[in-house]
Amino acid sequence: MADTASPRPLVAVSRGDLPGTAVAGLAAAAEVRSWPTDTPPTADELAALVASASGLLALGTDRIDAALLDAAGPQLRVVALASMGYDAVDLEAVAARGVVATHTPSVLAETTADLAFALILMARRRLRVAAETLHAGAWRTFRMGDLLGMDVHGARLGLLGFGQIGQAVARRARGFAMDVVHVDPARPDGGGLSRAVSMDELVATSDVVSVHVPLTPGTRGLVGRDFLAAMKPTATLVNTARGGVVDEDALLEALAAGTIHSAGLDVMEREPRSDPADRLFAESRLVVLPHVGSATEATRAAMVDLAARNVAEVLAGRPAPTPVPGTPAVPGTGSGLVAGATS
Ligand code: DGY
Repeated sequence: MADTASPRPLVAVSRGDLPGTAVAGLAAAAEVRSWPTDTPPTADELAALVASASGLLALGTDRIDAALLDAAGPQLRVVALASMGYDAVDLEAVAARGVVATHTPSVLAETTADLAFALILMARRRLRVAAETLHAGAWRTFRMGDLLGMDVHGARLGLLGFGQIGQAVARRARGFAMDVVHVDPARPDGGGLSRAVSMDELVATSDVVSVHVPLTPGTRGLVGRDFLAAMKPTATLVNTARGGVVDEDALLEALAAGTIHSAGLDVMEREPRSDPADRLFAESRLVVLPHVGSATEATRAAMVDLAARNVAEVLAGRPAPTPVPGTPAVPGTGSGLVAGATS
């Protein structure tokens, strides 16, 4: 008798050796084609990997555009990111093809908030310079005037964006007796953790401004010259969201001119950055980290597991657990973000 069982769908995975167990679990119901290493594939290599796939599990840094979706073919049903941010996804192209796009909210908010707080402490207390001084063998004696920073406790924290990560930072700020304010048109209620204020008030009165907005055309370059000029000269800027929200040239100018006290960045306009002569690394009042906000063993595994669950659910004909906000949880054209969009 002929075998009438439907062929197993193909799932492409854009990196090898991802943490967690769920990618291996996908093999129970699908054929899994993984990129062999943890070095990113080029656009052409990713296109070849995804050809004929019904699902793609990718990272937030993988560019998901019309060309890639077309290389996959019309059977593609889901693109699942192991990432909260989805700024590298062309959502119009995804919607036009009836593909479900998913991301990983919730699982990384607390871990990223921990990192935001680490940057606040590092920048305000000048911990980068303090550690460098010691490691360079340059600490000779205790002096009352050495390595003085700014207090964190009791300071005002201004959150640009009050989503999951902003709220998690606000919870930590309570333990530091900070006065927390936020700007987020979608969330006027601070739930007892924070008070909504105008952008002008937040910028002019905060001792720490922490960025928690996604990168969109509306937020690109939001923290630019005017914004930095309006901050207190004793204030600190921290960005754990996306590099493009902060104008790096304007930030370096502000730090050099003393317009603000200090800054901490976990994200940069261009990533990765490896030139030791990069002027971003030379500014002593700026602490820069290599995009490690969600980098704990448990959280990175949880991100991959949730992405794999999104793939598995959609391929099984069920709604995706965590679609990108404002986009459909089930495949099919006509229900997309931008009805009738072309790309
Ligand atoms: C995220 O989840 O958006 C992090 O930046 C990792 O991509």
